[in-house]
Amino acid sequence: MIFSRDRKGPDVDAAPDDRWQPGERLFRRAMRRLGSADPTPAGGRLPRFSISATDELGDVKPVPGRLVPERVRLALAEALAASQPVTSRERFAGRADVLEALITAIEQQRAHVVLYGERGIGKTSLVHVLAETAREARYLVGYGSCGVEARFDEMFRAFAAGIPLLFHAGVSPTADEAEHDRSFADLIGDGPVDPRELAELFARIVGTRVLLILDEYDRVGDPGFRRNVAELIKNLSDRAARVQLVLTGVASNLDELVGFTPSIRRNIVGLAVGPMSDGEVAEILDRAEAATGLRFTAEARALLFRMAAGSPYLVRLLGTRAALVALEAERGTIEPPDVLEGAEAVLKEWNAGLPRHAQRLLQRPEVKAAIPLLIAAARASGTPDGAFLAEDVAGEADPGPVRAQLERLSGSIDLFEMLPGDPEPRFRFRTPGLAQLLTLSAALARSAG
Ligand SMILES: Nc1ncnc2c1ncn2[C@@H]1O[C@H](COP(=O)(O)OP(=O)(O)OP(=O)(O)O)[C@@H](O)[C@H]1O
Ligand SMILES: [Mg+2]
Repeated sequence: MIFSRDRKGPDVDAAPDDRWQPGERLFRRAMRRLGSADPTPAGGRLPRFSISATDELGDVKPVPGRLVPERVRLALAEALAASQPVTSRERFAGRADVLEALITAIEQQRAHVVLYGERGIGKTSLVHVLAETAREARYLVGYGSCGVEARFDEMFRAFAAGIPLLFHAGVSPTADEAEHDRSFADLIGDGPVDPRELAELFARIVGTRVLLILDEYDRVGDPGFRRNVAELIKNLSDRAARVQLVLTGVASNLDELVGFTPSIRRNIVGLAVGPMSDGEVAEILDRAEAATGLRFTAEARALLFRMAAGSPYLVRLLGTRAALVALEAERGTIEPPDVLEGAEAVLKEWNAGLPRHAQRLLQRPEVKAAIPLLIAAARASGTPDGAFLAEDVAGEADPGPVRAQLERLSGSIDLFEMLPGDPEPRFRFRTPGLAQLLTLSAALARSAG
């Protein structure tokens, strides 16, 4: 492991009271191997869930003036979990400017929108909040998360099923009961969905507007899907249909996500989602404090800002871990040492999660010798697609030698991939997550002094 202060985890077989009792140790090991009960019943020692799936705390009662860890843990899991996007406005911090730009593009420009940015920067959360806001303005909103296997037909049939037929220009508002249960999907034939026919059908929508969100669009594997979406955008725009698409994905620019299709370019607004400001990150922590009753000291906050570097994902992950360290010690105030300990635990897990070949690579002497360069590269790779130029890494220094070194680490060592570019190549870490791991290690090393 690199940079983190590597403390060894607890080793059951080397517990101090075991050290002088080889007989007993052997006995315990043998029992374990047999899969039978330990001399002390294992059931009593195994961890249990502390919160029921109904989110009820059973007989844990609030005690005025006393920290009830179970209660705080539950609130913390709700307020600061890093694994789920925010889906409502109450939990959503900052980002007013991006949301404003999104609304303007949809409402004033009647454009289709592409939202792009790096992993974990908050794209999914943004479109969920956009959906909520649009529904309030009586838009019909469809949301689809794309995967490698996403099929154009399936996704758009599902979208069409969400649009009641009563919004069809050819259906009278006083139509009989039967029409009330039908949707636009009933008007699509059984064969493959053709984007031109679909646009024609959508052009008959009246009395509402429809937003169709295609989240994680970068993951779509089928080039046919992308071609169909481009065709659909073009045809919807040509017919001034009341349907707008919002695509999101990991990319550094619009072309990378939707391909360079001049015919649809003027109908699309591209919006980049960048790192959050310290003020916005602070808002995430403020909300967590309000929900849990915990408090992050100013120093702990400063440390979190530095480590998270504007990533809402990281601030939640590190904030939660730090809070759990404090709670473990029955404290309600989170201090810098809690942040450091939490971050170390995260690093350890990330290290363990790296593919074997990447772990081995990091042990090679020529790679170890290049650690300062790797850290500078990791910082430079905070671009939406993680790619950077030698000069981004070199800073004030001459980029020539840096480029040569990056090229060496791209060749047989294969730490970076080299993306041909004009006039300069760009580089990118081969292993996803490695840049983040290096940045966090460096921040931790600096902070731990
Ligand atoms: N405005 C916000 N306020 C509070 N938390 C946020 C905000 N935006 C994102 N987060 C948190 O950051 C994490 C990542 O957010 P999200 O899943 O929206 O990012 P993403 O860009 O869609 O990621 P990916 O590229 O992996 O799809 C989540 O834990 C989410 O709760
Ligand atoms: Mg997402």
